[in-house]
Amino acid sequence: MANSIYILFCESPLDTNQVDEDFADQYFSAKENGFETLLFNFEELISSDGCSSATKKLKPKDYVVDTIYRGWMLTPNQYSILYNQLLTKNYKLINTSEEYQNCHYLPDSLKFIENRTPKTVYEKIDHENSIDRLLEKCKIFGQNPVAIKDYVKSEKHDWETACYVPNASDTDILKSSISKLVELRGNHLNEGIVVREFVQLNDLTIHSKSGMPLTEEYRLFFCNKKLIGIYEYWEEGEYSLRKPDTSEFEEIAQRVESNFFSMDIARQKNGEFIIIELGDGQVAGLPDKTNRNEFYRELNICC
Ligand SMILES: Nc1ncnc2c1ncn2[C@@H]1O[C@H](COP(=O)(O)OP(=O)(O)O)[C@@H](O)[C@H]1O
Ligand SMILES: [Mg+2]
Repeated sequence: MANSIYILFCESPLDTNQVDEDFADQYFSAKENGFETLLFNFEELISSDGCSSATKKLKPKDYVVDTIYRGWMLTPNQYSILYNQLLTKNYKLINTSEEYQNCHYLPDSLKFIENRTPKTVYEKIDHENSIDRLLEKCKIFGQNPVAIKDYVKSEKHDWETACYVPNASDTDILKSSISKLVELRGNHLNEGIVVREFVQLNDLTIHSKSGMPLTEEYRLFFCNKKLIGIYEYWEEGEYSLRKPDTSEFEEIAQRVESNFFSMDIARQKNGEFIIIELGDGQVAGLPDKTNRNEFYRELNICC
């Protein structure tokens, strides 16, 4: 019989013997589909001082076992701490810290997807001139609209003020949107800011709460370069068109240096698909409509 594969979930902050409520459905689906499950203390990992005991309840293994984390996003540094702690007990996460960062930070993903994703510039925010340097780089967008986010996340629910800028040459508005984004991300700002050419995507509907346009997007997951599944990204909106042909994205996936990642693709108004972003498969959310059992069944087949 093949060796078991372990899936590591976060403990509930309310009861550390239980899985985090937000992942309960996935925890049970993972078990049902042939995985062994583990729990660790996420709060301890992310608190700056207590990280050494985040995995204290895990029993060391006598031999190395393959392990996949499914939980909340981690910074590359937190991921690296978790990776090393687990390895001392012989649990080996599916992605190294470098592989994690490859899909977690958009600037690191660009080398794999550059030809099929909107034109992008970025700048680390670590200096009083950082935003001005970024504005300088934005000149390549001319008067075109742009979308902004940090290296990982946007503030897409503040679409008008901190995500979408209709004219990149309007430097005052671009600067104020970037500043608003930095302010909203606060302590959670991931490294720096990216600015991307805004492309016209095929509309589904307008988000009922934030006013953000919801467009025809799909999340693909790949494990060991094999496509696990393709899932409708938004809960709202009618996905009436045929599902995309994924063959060219499966080809791109062969070059992505990660053993488990997500790839978000969107249909443009002209019918062509582009890649919006990659994500590490361990921290990429399952779209609401995704059948959990089906996902874990396919994951088990691919890994
Ligand atoms: N360059 C772009 N052109 C058109 N729409 C975009 C672009 N970038 C992002 N969007 C839209 O904004 C949404 C949020 O952007 P995304 O980069 O996925 O941020 P997040 O990491 O917060 O999910 C996307 O799902 C897509 O609908
Ligand atoms: Mg996204």
